[in-house]
Amino acid sequence: MSSSEKIPQFPKTYWRETELPSFDKLKEDLSVDVAIVGAGITGITAAYLLAKEGLKVAILEAGGVLNGTTGHTTAKITAQHGLVYDEYIQHFGEEKAKLYYESHTKAIQFIKQTAIDCDLSNEDAYIYATTDEYVGKIKTEMDAYHRLGIPGEIVNSIPFDIPIKAALVMRNQAQFHPVKYLKKLLEDAVQSGCTVYENTTATDIEADEDHRAVLTNVGHKVTCRHVIVASHFPFYDGLGFYFARMYAERSYAIGIKTDKDYPGGMYISADDPTRSIRYTPINGEKLIIIGGENHKTGQGPDTIVHYDALKGFAEETFGISEYAYRWSAQDLVSLDKIPYIGPITDKKDHIFVATGYKKWGMTTGTVAGHLLADYILDRDNPYKELYSPSRFDADPNLKKLISTNADVAGHLLKGKLEFVPKDPSDLQMGEGSVVMHNGKRAGAYKDENGKLYIVDTTCTHLGCETEWNHAEKTWDCPCHGSRFSYAGDVVEGPALKPLDNLSEEQ
Ligand code: FES
Repeated sequence: MSSSEKIPQFPKTYWRETELPSFDKLKEDLSVDVAIVGAGITGITAAYLLAKEGLKVAILEAGGVLNGTTGHTTAKITAQHGLVYDEYIQHFGEEKAKLYYESHTKAIQFIKQTAIDCDLSNEDAYIYATTDEYVGKIKTEMDAYHRLGIPGEIVNSIPFDIPIKAALVMRNQAQFHPVKYLKKLLEDAVQSGCTVYENTTATDIEADEDHRAVLTNVGHKVTCRHVIVASHFPFYDGLGFYFARMYAERSYAIGIKTDKDYPGGMYISADDPTRSIRYTPINGEKLIIIGGENHKTGQGPDTIVHYDALKGFAEETFGISEYAYRWSAQDLVSLDKIPYIGPITDKKDHIFVATGYKKWGMTTGTVAGHLLADYILDRDNPYKELYSPSRFDADPNLKKLISTNADVAGHLLKGKLEFVPKDPSDLQMGEGSVVMHNGKRAGAYKDENGKLYIVDTTCTHLGCETEWNHAEKTWDCPCHGSRFSYAGDVVEGPALKPLDNLSEEQ
């Protein structure tokens, strides 16, 4: 164990070290069959499938390709999404629970068949319990596996120094390097005629009976027959009220090296705190990726605490010889824990959305790519109803909807009334905080050279107050998960406009 291994100063994901092609921004108006907004696993998989069918496809990406959630995942490819199957049977019945499993199993098969040079390996997935309460839940989940015909078994140990009481195994799942995998898929899509535009933010959609156009921040638009909104949080809502039907969660990951041998397998704890473990090959060695520490965006203590907790777990379990990477991710959770994939509303059947993947974006993004391609190609797909964003399985939703929105109302009320006993001049170099500025709540950050950035902390989406995220140096909104840089630029939607800059008012 080496407690001297310090936290890397800035967040850095291992996956993004892969060299990627770069693309120009949109420089003229375009006309295509399908405009896809967002170059993550959903957008790229759909583009790959549709371009191969001969459709004219354009991808618009606000930043660089593969730099959103897809570049910050732990990249497990599994249908074991926590202890979900018993819950799905209770809420939706056996048939739908089975369809959920089947759709993700097909996604795994597709990835295994398509993957080239992306560190793909077959691995067993384990979910383990460290308390008696969760042993009971593991057994109930095993019963659900039996009812649904999911192959699985309960074991009493895993090959680490973690005092577990039971674990449920799903065999023959997989892991890979998501950016290498998608780079190849994107290259294939481009070869089939798909065009890609980076640094091009989609800002709105014009839609009527037989015309759709995606408007952008670069002064040009893309006219099309179909739009896929694969921008993580939908940049366009179309009166689907997605902001009221999902909440955002942050989670953290670290990449470490250890002198201990790693025997393979992917692991996740059933009980709290969540701990997720896998490895990936790196220059003949193994990088162990440990994830967990979920919390709602914009809430909770100093965010560095979460990296420290993962580091403590890594030291105890493996011993750290090198602490090489740390990164965080944002995930969206739908109210009934089934993603929303399909027409954005009943009335807008040429605008499609895919969102609310919880933390299982690799298989879900692949399911979504296929499902949306089938909608557009007018093909049957057995999973349309299950994932339909307009579904009416409201049973578990209502209570959650009320409590989620009560939370939001609390943050709205907080507004400008909060008194903050701190002044921008109190800040140390590298420190950010909510402060009092000209008698009002504001946000300030002093960089390493002493330059002060002051922003209005009111989120430009619907007006909640953002909070300072120390580890990532961002302003995060607790209501629907928008995030802004310390200078106020949008890092993550649904907000489209930057925070107001108050630096001039000093
Ligand atoms: Fe909706 Fe901030 S993200 S109010």
